[in-house]
Amino acid sequence: MLSLSNKQIILGITGGIAAYKAAELCRLLIKAGADVRVVMTPSATEFITSLTFQALSGNRVQIELLDEEAEAAMGHIELARWADLILVAPASANFIARLSQGRAEDLLSTLCLATTAPIAVAPAMNQAMWRNENTQENLQALKQKDIAVLGPASGEQACGDVGLGRMLEPEEIAQAAADVFETGELAGVEITITAGPTREAIDPVRYISNHSSGKMGYALARAAMEAGAKVVLVSGPVSLQAPPQVKLVSVESARQMLDACQVLPGDIFISVAAVADYRPANIASEKIKKHADTMELNLVKNPDILAQISLSAMRPFCVGFAAETENIEEYARKKLQDKKLDLIFANNAAATFNSESALATAYWKNGEHPFPQSSKTSLARDMVSLIARCYRESKITET
Ligand code: C5P
Repeated sequence: MLSLSNKQIILGITGGIAAYKAAELCRLLIKAGADVRVVMTPSATEFITSLTFQALSGNRVQIELLDEEAEAAMGHIELARWADLILVAPASANFIARLSQGRAEDLLSTLCLATTAPIAVAPAMNQAMWRNENTQENLQALKQKDIAVLGPASGEQACGDVGLGRMLEPEEIAQAAADVFETGELAGVEITITAGPTREAIDPVRYISNHSSGKMGYALARAAMEAGAKVVLVSGPVSLQAPPQVKLVSVESARQMLDACQVLPGDIFISVAAVADYRPANIASEKIKKHADTMELNLVKNPDILAQISLSAMRPFCVGFAAETENIEEYARKKLQDKKLDLIFANNAAATFNSESALATAYWKNGEHPFPQSSKTSLARDMVSLIARCYRESKITET
């Protein structure tokens, strides 16, 4: 199934008859999970209305470069930074010429100049225009700039000609967009990730827990899935939705989490969950009544899930997390050693719990790597890349 979950895509539409097919493309991108913002050139609006794309994308369509209202909402530089991909479909011969020369006379070409995200274009034009030497030179220039050229296809054209120049079908373009993100770094690798808090029951209505939101674990599950891994997410109670491609196992307590993790196969185990270290020694079968002025709760230690898995005979590649409030590196390195981990990500608990963004430093036996503050989505992608690299290296050392 096509996945573009969490991806932020600018869908650029230029003036050509194939613009009507961009409506279907927009719908497919959204269905695959992308957040889509549509930018049209003024001539594209002669072929299809901006209202169509506003309705499909749920976002205001931008057309003019010098648009006070649009600039006040999300300026063109901000929009260029927002994008994970700029996909121009259809891309007219004129637009391809502008793009190849780095011109910035309309909003769409300006965005292409201002972005650091990948750019892909799906050309659509008459076969003679396609074959024209100027167009071919412009396309070469795009390819040299690492701009992906998707298609075109050959066949009957709107003008009655037959030949190369038809825009690829929306399904093919959506798939090509997904391929841009498919790093494949973890293709075929089985990963188990724990996420969220655990709840340790006191009685039928009360429990001990913590502030973990699960956002980091869920972001890692998504990033690992996008990198080609087969992911099982063992999650404590959170209010997040797991990507449909990920197998979700919902648990409450630490002991349930351990049971779930022990039966799961996997090449890599990533333990992000904020597992309660202690649980009440006894769970009252009825609600405890408030008679006395004080109450003592007798706690016993929970199993250390990560340590048990890491110290087992058939251990997978083990990745831990350390949320600390002080001596971050020292405690992280101690956990790396004590739990015999392959890799640990450490950060400041206060700056991470329940937050949208995070920063962290990775430590392993012979190295470390700092990750600057960024959204958990983007941090997760970078973490997954490092995990994939260290995992591959561990396999080479094994053999
Ligand atoms: O020792 P500490 O609890 O700080 O270790 C943190 C790491 O161990 C995290 O990766 C966490 O998910 C994991 N952990 C665990 N089981 C526990 C406690 C922590 O898997 N009972």
